[in-house]
Amino acid sequence: MIESIDWESAINTRRSTRSYTMESVEEAKMNLLKNFVSNMQLPYDHKVKVQFFKANPDKKLYSVFAAPPDNAAFIANTDTKSISSVGFVGELLILYATSLGLSTCWYGHYLLLELQHNMPQLGAEAENQNIKWGYGKQEAEGERAVCITPIGYWKSEGARIFDRMQESLISYKRKPISALLEADLKEEMLPSEILYAIDLARKAPSAANSQHWRFKVSHDFKVVSIAMPENYKHIKWEHPNVDVGICACHFWLGLVIKNVQSKVYLTEDEGRALWRFEL
Ligand SMILES: Cc1cc2nc3c(=O)[nH]c(=O)nc-3n(C[C@H](O)[C@H](O)[C@H](O)COP(=O)(O)O)c2cc1C
Repeated sequence: MIESIDWESAINTRRSTRSYTMESVEEAKMNLLKNFVSNMQLPYDHKVKVQFFKANPDKKLYSVFAAPPDNAAFIANTDTKSISSVGFVGELLILYATSLGLSTCWYGHYLLLELQHNMPQLGAEAENQNIKWGYGKQEAEGERAVCITPIGYWKSEGARIFDRMQESLISYKRKPISALLEADLKEEMLPSEILYAIDLARKAPSAANSQHWRFKVSHDFKVVSIAMPENYKHIKWEHPNVDVGICACHFWLGLVIKNVQSKVYLTEDEGRALWRFEL
């Protein structure tokens, strides 16, 4: 069971925000976020940790904007399934924060050294491995902060040029469902509940808005699979399986909204996370 909030409008109103006031999130809202994380019940097993932390606005943590006081890190092992799970779990938190009127931004290319100053428990990997952004491409031993997000309030005036550019060029724009279906599947063949869930899924955020997820639906409409195309390589982002997990999260929420029961399986196929929903 997942908390009953208006997930559809959270999905439709969430945007990546890259300009924040320096206001802290009120204690009552922080407590709601923390309770949500502690009580989150997912339809599959996972070990992703969400850790809230305070950042210093005078230090560079996000490459293109000053960090607000409150932030969260999504921490997991770095095998394919754990990485994709970060997307599923992290997006639930991000959508829940959106429903509380908070702004967020999925961030993969944060500055690791600064994150380690904010969260010393992460250890001294950056110095040891000479990694500047995130934790690098390769699977590493132990847990890493795969992505982070600011949690705060949008500063409408003073949005930087980069922010405005992102908004007009890449944010909002999403591929139509017809471009995301595998094989000879046509949108009009799909039962309305599946179509609804795919429509929410295609609105998922992805690094550089690449939307590299594809949907496969079995002929009897009992199984829906979500994965990136075989041999897919993202030019700028090391962990496209995170994005596929975010997409799977939106799809699952779509099924929950339509009261469709599903069994959810997360497996791996040569570096690709495969999400399988049995309806
Ligand atoms: C996994 C992930 C990592 C991201 N990393 C960054 C980042 O490092 N820097 C950044 O400016 N935006 C980052 N984004 C935000 C995307 O650019 C944004 O989600 C996309 O352009 C769609 O816009 P929207 O979130 O406003 O719908 C990331 C998004 C995702 C899902």
